[in-house]
Amino acid sequence: MCGIVGYVGKQDACPFLLTGLRRLEYRGYDSAGIATLGESGNLYLARSVGRIESLAEQIAGSPMPGVIGIGHTRWATHGAATPENAHPHLGGTGAVAVVHNGVIENYQALKEMLIEKGYCFQSATDTEVIAHLIADNLKRILESPVNAGTRSGTASEGRNAVYVEAVRASLPSLRGTYGLVVMFRDRPDLLIAARCGSPLVLGVGRGEQFIASDTSPLVGHTDRIIYLADHQLAVISKDSIQVVHRDQGRIRPEVRVLESRDQEVDCEGYAHYMLKEIYEQPTSLRNAMRGRLDRENATAKFGGLNLTPSQLRSVNRIILTACGTSWHSALVGEYLIEEFARLPVEVEYASELRYRNPPVDHDTLIFGITQSGETADTLAALREMKRKGHHTLAICNVVGSSIAQEADGGVYLHAGPEIGVASTKAFTSQLSVLAMLALYFGRLRYLSYEAGQRIIDNLEALPDAVERSLECDSVTRRIADKYKDATNFLYLGRHYNFPTALEGALKLKEISYIHAEGYPAAEMKHGPIALVDEHTPSVFILSRSHVYDKVMSNLQEVKARGGPVIAIVDQRDKRLDTLVDDVIEIPHVEDFLQPVVAAIPLQLLAYHIAIARGCDVDKPRNLAKSVTVE
Ligand code: AGP
Repeated sequence: MCGIVGYVGKQDACPFLLTGLRRLEYRGYDSAGIATLGESGNLYLARSVGRIESLAEQIAGSPMPGVIGIGHTRWATHGAATPENAHPHLGGTGAVAVVHNGVIENYQALKEMLIEKGYCFQSATDTEVIAHLIADNLKRILESPVNAGTRSGTASEGRNAVYVEAVRASLPSLRGTYGLVVMFRDRPDLLIAARCGSPLVLGVGRGEQFIASDTSPLVGHTDRIIYLADHQLAVISKDSIQVVHRDQGRIRPEVRVLESRDQEVDCEGYAHYMLKEIYEQPTSLRNAMRGRLDRENATAKFGGLNLTPSQLRSVNRIILTACGTSWHSALVGEYLIEEFARLPVEVEYASELRYRNPPVDHDTLIFGITQSGETADTLAALREMKRKGHHTLAICNVVGSSIAQEADGGVYLHAGPEIGVASTKAFTSQLSVLAMLALYFGRLRYLSYEAGQRIIDNLEALPDAVERSLECDSVTRRIADKYKDATNFLYLGRHYNFPTALEGALKLKEISYIHAEGYPAAEMKHGPIALVDEHTPSVFILSRSHVYDKVMSNLQEVKARGGPVIAIVDQRDKRLDTLVDDVIEIPHVEDFLQPVVAAIPLQLLAYHIAIARGCDVDKPRNLAKSVTVE
């Protein structure tokens, strides 16, 4: 979702800004723009709808000089995707340029107040309000007798103070979330960044400084970074960065090292990031489990939960909260933890939990599950649980993300960067971490030493099973060609494979735009079976387990109504020859790990159908990689 870049230094800003925006493309966007400030004090602005390439073409035709600039990829919230609504937005007839991530909830009231004061709005966005508000405060401060002549004063810090004050004075009026960067027409060596709920990272250079909404644009430019925290404001010029906290005043920011795992990633010969990430799963699973399986004690170990075993033993309930694919992992987690640890688990949509105010006992542990660590709803739900005094833990992929920083502890997935908007390897890594947590909680309670050993055997064998599961790629492609024109799909499974069915349906709809529903297979009789006809394929996940025959009966019910059936199976069963139209074979694993192995053909099926339909799988329409607005 929306991306931000900023540069102030000694080189042309435009190349960094454009490359940075390209690296942020994976977050999802529908328009983009850049503003630079030339030596003459001219403000250059380019904005366009669609891909960064069309912005780059516009700039190639009409160059944008300047050693200072800001850029943005926009995912429309307020107002359609048009050049006028794209950022940067200008305030006060071009005195101020602003890029903004987040949502200003009270923008309408602010807009009316500013229109009354004579400001003209060019866009339908909430962001333009920020630009005019800062311009208005700047005008007020500059016109006050104390500051007369400040614009042409000598000491740079003193001159900047007025501009810093204009931003600082504007922020309390904003209700909602923001990560924003401000550039002033009269200050060719000053950018001001401010954060409340939307991430910003500063890249510390020599004689140049960088700003971005995540670390990807900074790679290759600097390895020293500062994560801006909520209510902090950064005053950035080419030779310095000062950070000021709303309540604590000027603070010394922690400068961290940009980890090598954050280095730039490319497709490495695969046609798309999504396909590469699907194929990376044997490795990402090994990385998730590395050093965490304790064979001697028949358990798992985690360094970052920040709770002692005895504190963990006194936990009597767990809440798993997440969104989208991570929510599907949570559903599997519920089955795992309840089965291994006999601990009651509740799975909550983070977007609901944050406003629901359920009764939560004090010995309840809260886990937020998130690939990006930036999902606004998950962050808000965890914050609310924290306010109520609960220990919050994150199962997260992105090191240093907002959720990773704010949670009281957690477990990293170590899956490596996931660029494709459709989550694949993060999902299976989340499942393996949840299985290890279930083992850990189980061993603190009722799980025997032998049972713990067996779980470890199965977990250790999992990456090889996933490797073999990937062999279904060509069969899946053939099946995708056959069904690519379907307009509805059903995904059905039971027990551990009920969440797998939900995930299969989500994968298909988000990248191929085909309507798909996932259901517990038996639930189908209570409504969805009405959808079954010869044009509606049903994908059954039919792994060997205690519900195998039950799912087989559900499959027959679909077949009896003329619906085409695609079965994902881990054993040959003669009955399938007459009942099933297409079969995808996967290796057999214990039922608690079936969602991991079955996820592979589901991901590949969605991928190949999307490709066959000519869809942009890595950047599907309307979607964003990290959903930083609620
Ligand atoms: C997954 O394919 C989706 N793009 C989406 O549902 C995603 O899982 C969801 O937005 C949650 O993201 P998170 O894991 O980064 O919190």
